[in-house]
Amino acid sequence: MRFMLSSVAVLATVVGGGFGAQAATLSISCGAVGLELELCQEGAQAWAEQTGNEVTVISTPNSATERLALYQQILAANSADIDVYQIDVIWPGILANHFIDLSEHIPDDQISQHFPAILNNNTVADRFVAMPWFTDAGLLYYRQDLLDKYGKQPPATWEELAATAQEIQDGERAEGNDKMWGFVFQAKAYEGLTCDALEWVDSFGGGAIVADDGSITINNPQAALALDTAAGWIGTIAPDGVLNYAEEEARGVFQSGNAVFMRNWPYAWALGNAPDSAVSGRIGVSALPKGGADGKNTGALGGWQLAVSKYSANPELAADLVAYLTSYDEQKRRAIKGSYNPTIEALYKDGEVLAAVPFFGELYDTFVNAVARPSKVTAAKYNQVSAEFFNATHEVLSGEVSGADSVAALESKLDRLSRGGRW
Ligand code: GLC
Repeated sequence: MRFMLSSVAVLATVVGGGFGAQAATLSISCGAVGLELELCQEGAQAWAEQTGNEVTVISTPNSATERLALYQQILAANSADIDVYQIDVIWPGILANHFIDLSEHIPDDQISQHFPAILNNNTVADRFVAMPWFTDAGLLYYRQDLLDKYGKQPPATWEELAATAQEIQDGERAEGNDKMWGFVFQAKAYEGLTCDALEWVDSFGGGAIVADDGSITINNPQAALALDTAAGWIGTIAPDGVLNYAEEEARGVFQSGNAVFMRNWPYAWALGNAPDSAVSGRIGVSALPKGGADGKNTGALGGWQLAVSKYSANPELAADLVAYLTSYDEQKRRAIKGSYNPTIEALYKDGEVLAAVPFFGELYDTFVNAVARPSKVTAAKYNQVSAEFFNATHEVLSGEVSGADSVAALESKLDRLSRGGRW
């Protein structure tokens, strides 16, 4: 069955020029956050030229939540329209059945270059369904020039972040920048808020919503405190509009010079330092603050993989495109040009990569110790778990409910969803 891609809002570009009788046209769906689409097109083009095929690059919604809904629609129709899917680190358990086992197509020595934890994440019921492409961890961006001006250090705790943000916001506004805000992040009701809120909760020692053994842990005082703390930022150090911000909205404010701090993924580094950025050369990056002196620095584990559809007419060729795009050289190019974190460990020791993105080395521990969302244990139900969590969090941030009431209600919902913790 053909799924009518034209019925959804997607942008497709054809790259390469097929030659010869054997030439095929593959299609790949890529993200478009920051430089993603451009880098995907360039990579696909290089493969197309090398192999004499053509690739249609399809741009999909920025929101992971919307992108998953689109993929599910296309895959449920067993559509052959997309050969290669860019999938989120939290989706293997949801989508695995639609993808081929790549271990039958890509040599072991190429697969084993990647971080074992991600390979394990991408293996479902002994099938290796996706090659790691880039990894992600939540980071704190700050305006080094403003911290210097006010004699401040990057904050160790969220409390310190709020105090520094308020002081600099007030000072800069008094000097005439009435658009200045202390802190921007992602608080729209979507997957990105699950990441931000998990960071707050985990940094306060409140766990990761559902533990690895399946038990629901979110109803605890530390989690409630974390959510209440974040609610206190709205309208004080963060604009009310942050309740509708995803990654790119936050980056827009920070990059135009109107925020002291920003929570974002590594990709924001390359763009923030680009010639057209108002804050180029004035940005510092650190781990996210701790939840109180006894808390911990934590960043949510994100990242994207490439998977080949079972419905593809050219699975062998599609796997070759995946092998090319996830290779050492291509990940190196993406790291240097777009600050996308490699999933190949050796690239974290590559001098050219470290020169372009120094925090790949300085914050290495943040990347390898990032906190995972509970997608492995909740598997096919992860998306519902996440939606319950981001909606509950959004209500707390909007001032509709207290952190304690919210996590108690969330526990009951997750209990029903899991039928008593048995996912
Ligand atoms: C980033 C992460 C991804 C996450 C998404 C949420 O793209 O890599 O894992 O789900 O942000 O917005």
